[in-house]
Amino acid sequence: MNRKIVVTSALPYANGPIHIGHLVEYLQTDIWVRFQKANGNQCLYFCADDTHGTPIMIRARAEGIEPEELIKRVHKEHIRDFESFHIEFDNYYSTHSEENKQLSELIFNRLVEKDSIVKGEIEQAYCDGCNMFLPDRFIRGACPKCKAENQYGDSCDTCGATYQPTELIKPACATCGKEPVRKKSIHYFFRLADYHKKLKELMAGGYTGKSVSNKLDEWFSAGLKDWDISRDGPYFGFKIPGEEDKFFYVWLDAPIGYMASCKNYCDKNGLDFEKVWNGEEYELYHFIGKDIMYFHALFWPAMLMGSGFKIAKRLFVHGFLTVNGEKMSKSKGTFIKAETYTKHLDPEYLRYYYASKLTDGVGDIDLSLDDFVAKVNSDLIGKLANLASRSVPMLTGKLDSTLGTIDKEGKELLNQLAAAKEQIINEYENLDYASAIRQIAALADIANKYVEQNQPWSMIKTDAEKTRVVLTAIVNAVKILAIYLKPVLPEFVGKIEKILGVESLSFADVEKVLENKKINEYVRLAERVDKEKVQAMLEESKNESADAKAMADKSAEQKPQVTLDEPLEAECTIDDFKKVDLRVAKVVKAEKVEGADKLLHLELNIGGITKSVFAGIAKAYEPEVLVGKLVICVANLQPRKMKFGLSEGMILAAGPGGKDIFMLGIDSGAKPGQRIH
Ligand code: MSP
Ligand code: ZN
Repeated sequence: MNRKIVVTSALPYANGPIHIGHLVEYLQTDIWVRFQKANGNQCLYFCADDTHGTPIMIRARAEGIEPEELIKRVHKEHIRDFESFHIEFDNYYSTHSEENKQLSELIFNRLVEKDSIVKGEIEQAYCDGCNMFLPDRFIRGACPKCKAENQYGDSCDTCGATYQPTELIKPACATCGKEPVRKKSIHYFFRLADYHKKLKELMAGGYTGKSVSNKLDEWFSAGLKDWDISRDGPYFGFKIPGEEDKFFYVWLDAPIGYMASCKNYCDKNGLDFEKVWNGEEYELYHFIGKDIMYFHALFWPAMLMGSGFKIAKRLFVHGFLTVNGEKMSKSKGTFIKAETYTKHLDPEYLRYYYASKLTDGVGDIDLSLDDFVAKVNSDLIGKLANLASRSVPMLTGKLDSTLGTIDKEGKELLNQLAAAKEQIINEYENLDYASAIRQIAALADIANKYVEQNQPWSMIKTDAEKTRVVLTAIVNAVKILAIYLKPVLPEFVGKIEKILGVESLSFADVEKVLENKKINEYVRLAERVDKEKVQAMLEESKNESADAKAMADKSAEQKPQVTLDEPLEAECTIDDFKKVDLRVAKVVKAEKVEGADKLLHLELNIGGITKSVFAGIAKAYEPEVLVGKLVICVANLQPRKMKFGLSEGMILAAGPGGKDIFMLGIDSGAKPGQRIH
């Protein structure tokens, strides 16, 4: 019975790198998907970058680039990191896509028709300096409880208190430092409470596991509140249909990104999206972390109910990563980026270690680094790789690379290993990877014991053919264990498949024996982990964080704290700046202005248009030298009436004054009128 399955992982935010905390989720999901495929099912795995919202907009601004450019770069980085950990999506897309826009509008419109969306006025913090509403995280001030400085608008990092941004002492905009004001605005709200009964039924039907549904019961008893799904511009996201400056809140279009990724895949591969996403033939599953349960257990299914889409069969929720028993910490070097990890260690070690820890529960997963080294070296190298390294080289080196037949004793061993198949399948299916790994390690112990008992290295001296029989059993044991490990260790198992000369192994191959056939040369399957390498990885992570902090501190220094003789003007956004139209201009005429010893009167040719400009550069430049030169001119400056005539533009020249004014000239083959960027 071949199942058809669609799987998603939560969409990582496009404003930061993938780290080992994220990897808990993507590895948990990838292992499950690979298991389904190895078990003969069709399985499609969809994900995407979560690209919208204020933090991404602000991050792009801080880097001086457009959000589109930021999300494009991060998309490449995310794909690189996922690939290096062998996380294999069928489609890794973006929420900033046409498919997502259309689906978001469709779902919104259907919810409006259903009367599930209402408008209402709310009052929020607003920054006059930045001309935008400020999310709680973008307001900083001293904690009202413990008075710690520089805390977020929603909670205090020092004492853990939570509060409203209005309660902060001396609140300030995190971007420009101005004190926020209160401002009213109309927002759209999704009436979650209308779905109370249906959501309760969904939970009763087993949408989530027990511990998650207990948490949900708390939320149900507290009462479901309307959900604000709109944001005022400027906002990086999708415009709400029929609105000029209101956008969907990022969390509205983010889960719709699952559908958009699926739709994009279907369209590219000639599949029917309606069938794959919404049909009964396909089972749908979501994997998420416990921090985003509210969105996936309440808002998301309610949105789907209201708009007539299918709801996932199950929501799988995992816990958070701790390192050496603590939250990941930048100063301890345990905030490890995927990219940093791969510079020092083999990604499959982490796949193996996480698998050995993961269960179907929401408890936190601890990466204890000493345990990590011990487990990889004792199990992966000592038990699993060892079994192959003690059998294959002897066969290829001394026995013509040829397998023999399996005797009774060998069959007993293999039967014992094969007998665990159904249980291991169940463990993978039910996300109890820890049990599966424990069992596989125990089976490897049994196989290694068989090797010890038969001592092929001394048997070969007296009885080559009996040795061949023993080694054939061991190679077949390697094959079975390889199948069991395949969802976790695709590379490691790929190498074994090559050695055995078999096509892609699957669970259906457990009972098929390899006899009387040639095998290929041995290749090393894995190297022991060095403690030093782990140490080096931590050091590098620590340095990266220190560098990042130094950069942040440095840019903080450049903020207005430095007292300037003349205070900075109000912030000029990149959009403001883009309005300045800079053109190459040829100086046609230049002459002194009577009665104004600083001014020169210039006549500029800007590609067919002539402009008359008064420029304050007379002390620095003689008029004669300017004629015929190419300069840069602000061509769209509003004409300004001066004492001596109308000035229709401005040339780019700057300096402290007097002789020290420097004009931006061009001596390339630029054409008058050409735009400068
Ligand atoms: N963008 C949202 C999800 C939108 S889904 C429609 C988001 N992004 S995230 O980048 O913060 O997290 C992505 C996933 O990684 C989440 O499921 C989150 O729980 C998980 N993890 C992020 N950090 C984690 C740990 N430190 N430990 C375990 N999982 C973690 O939330
Ligand atoms: Zn501001």
